[in-house]
Amino acid sequence: MVIEEKKTITERIRLQFIDLFQEEPLVVMSPGRINLIGEHTDYNRGYVLPAAIDKVTVVAMREREDQLVHLVASDLDANLVISLEQPLKPAGNWSDYVMGVVDQFQKRNLPVRGFNLVFGGNVPLGAGMSSSAALECAVAFALNEQLDAKLNRMDLVALAQKAENEFVGVNCGIMDQFSSMFGQKNKVLKLDCETLEYESVPFEMDGFRIVLLDTHVKHSLGSSEYNIRRSQCEEGLALLNRQYPDLTNLRNANLDQLDQVLRKEHPVLYHRCRYVMEENHRLLDACKALHINDLRTFGKLMYASHEGLSRRYEVSCPELDYLVEQVRPVEAVYGARMMGGGFGGCTINLVKSEAVSELIETVGNLYQDHTGTSLGAYVVQIGNGTALL
Ligand code: GLA
Repeated sequence: MVIEEKKTITERIRLQFIDLFQEEPLVVMSPGRINLIGEHTDYNRGYVLPAAIDKVTVVAMREREDQLVHLVASDLDANLVISLEQPLKPAGNWSDYVMGVVDQFQKRNLPVRGFNLVFGGNVPLGAGMSSSAALECAVAFALNEQLDAKLNRMDLVALAQKAENEFVGVNCGIMDQFSSMFGQKNKVLKLDCETLEYESVPFEMDGFRIVLLDTHVKHSLGSSEYNIRRSQCEEGLALLNRQYPDLTNLRNANLDQLDQVLRKEHPVLYHRCRYVMEENHRLLDACKALHINDLRTFGKLMYASHEGLSRRYEVSCPELDYLVEQVRPVEAVYGARMMGGGFGGCTINLVKSEAVSELIETVGNLYQDHTGTSLGAYVVQIGNGTALL
């Protein structure tokens, strides 16, 4: 059924392209992502443990003879024409995810001609599954093919991340674009964001499902607080560095060092840095648990991660906390935590298969009564990364 859905989206986007532009396009799909554990660690050069999911963005494109870019956002029922003869500027809308990538190709002196592009898919927008990274990666992959630019996947990840940093203006880390590009079916990816080395870790899901519970809220402080957390960690590390010059990464700090340098004088930085240090340790423990298929331990680490994100890192929100509190006593939910940047979006839950429907119904009702907002729910599978279709 999942494969059917993907096929349908691909066909829909391809046919819309043919209908509009009367030629066969190049078609690329790129998935959204989940992150099992290791949150707000990517920009701290720590570890993350994401996976690509079976929710995808599909891009159909073909070069034009002129310097015009015709963009069609199928699901938004919107379109735009942009000329490449003028310097590119962010427009503050969905087109920035496409044109930010074009901008990066131009900055690498890879001459982009005009093109027609239609995109659409089923990655929920604004729910924290990285629909924007999926679009950026799909466009980067398609342009790379079209121009025969011979950039490898890691180059494309870096390029897509830069597009987001420089053109969209979000100072994100590398996790989202990496997971979208490198995802592997039924595997989670342990990425070291310092060395960019990664390994795939098998995730035996027999009898379990990954359920994303969507708060349907996105608090506006999200992106400003995100950048504040980034600088707080940098500041904390710089202070630690004065006394411990060899300490170049928060993941290698220890509690004594944090106590000594930050606890009294810089309590906020202390909590931020302590969270980052502990989250990296949790991730390593979580990988060990996966290797022996110990999902109980894995789940406990997820709960602990949420605790840290909520109390020490302070990027959760009442709706996310409420969802985690509701599932915590449920035997069939092995682990749960907020996922992604925070301040809204989804929680990720590791749930026994047979309990999924009841859980969604019960928590859905409680959430509706408590917040007056409906709850979204997605049962996701781990899928492959960006591909030419
Ligand atoms: C967002 C960013 C990622 C990462 C997460 C938090 O999704 O885009 O780079 O920092 O937040 O883990």
